[in-house]
Amino acid sequence: MLKVRVGDFVIGERERAAINAVLDSGRLSEGRNVLEFEKKWAGFIGTKYALAVNSGTSALILALAAANQKGYLKNNAKIITTPLTYIATTNAIVSANMQPVYADINPVTFDIDPDSVRKLLEESKEGEYSALLPVHLMGYPCNMDSLTKLCKEHNILLFEDSAQAHGTLYHGKRTGSFGIFGAFSFYIAHNIQAGELGAITTDDYEFYKVMKKMKANGRACDCEICTRSSGFCKQLANYDGEYDFDPRFSHDMFGYNFKTMEFPAALALAQMETINDILRKRRENVMALNRALSQFSGILQLPKFQEDISYLAYPLVIKQNSGFTRKHIRQELEKRGIETRPLFGCIPTQQQAYAHLKKEYEGKLPNAEYIGANGFYIGCHQYISPEDIDYIAKCFEEILS
Ligand SMILES: Cc1ncc(COP(=O)(O)O)c(C=O)c1O
Repeated sequence: MLKVRVGDFVIGERERAAINAVLDSGRLSEGRNVLEFEKKWAGFIGTKYALAVNSGTSALILALAAANQKGYLKNNAKIITTPLTYIATTNAIVSANMQPVYADINPVTFDIDPDSVRKLLEESKEGEYSALLPVHLMGYPCNMDSLTKLCKEHNILLFEDSAQAHGTLYHGKRTGSFGIFGAFSFYIAHNIQAGELGAITTDDYEFYKVMKKMKANGRACDCEICTRSSGFCKQLANYDGEYDFDPRFSHDMFGYNFKTMEFPAALALAQMETINDILRKRRENVMALNRALSQFSGILQLPKFQEDISYLAYPLVIKQNSGFTRKHIRQELEKRGIETRPLFGCIPTQQQAYAHLKKEYEGKLPNAEYIGANGFYIGCHQYISPEDIDYIAKCFEEILS
């Protein structure tokens, strides 16, 4: 019965050929596809380097831990971030032994509000905060001019969670290329879909090298691609000590196993061939849905349309005193085969995992709390047809009239 999913994945000839080529190559762990994907993604985002990892969550944990390892941050560093996001942003901060501190959001484009960030910074003690980690939610870019300026003025680092914004342009520059790092997720509902895959973009070579080691348990091996299978190891060849050195099993820093596989990288590469079409089709669907649902703009806040956005989905917010609840609208849509998702929730006050923060934040993040309780999204992906859009409009008419 499911008719319109939040994200769809159609396995075409290109994807099938990419997977078969990996099988035929005999190499499943990281190899040429991963390397090519890293180069293509860096080129697309406009950074010098990109590093592929096994998920967007790993990308965030690794980048934060590497920032710590490099001495950019310290243990227990306070990171200002957004309360309205997929929970991985906060989980990564906590996993890296740092503390999230929340500023409120803009209720129209869901991004962290620079005025709220400024207030935190102005009321802080010297050196209290170490970094800012904004999220480009649903593809909308944060206000990078103001955030960059604030970070400079208060001498804190700027990072970016661009997991939901694959190619969004802000004043001609792609999100994920403004901060020390940009983290991406290629989870199945995202614009480039690889199942489970993540990436970190950066211009900082030393930082990139640390992340490359740390994603492989901190191993000493750091060649761009391992040449051992061809019978030659560059590091071994260059080593003239007496110790029986094997760079794969010598570790010069702490690390994780966040390596990925050839399959998701091959899928991502296949999709990158049509990325501009994917982004254009999603934008067209947002425009068409806005037209089809404009009659309900008294009840629903429709998504703001902007040309340069890579839309993750079609976000809707139920307006105050509309007489409708999110539970009712979502249930009725799902009954009719239209998949929905809540707009994540305000992490410190609405997510059970962070209930210990509730007292501290309740009532202090009014926009995030409102959207967290009244926002939801449906799909706008490239496989949604004009007939699907007519069907969605008809369902909303039945539910809201
Ligand atoms: C904003 C944000 N950050 C991080 C992540 C984590 O990515 P992953 O699910 O690939 O671990 C996601 C996933 O959708 C996300 O939306």
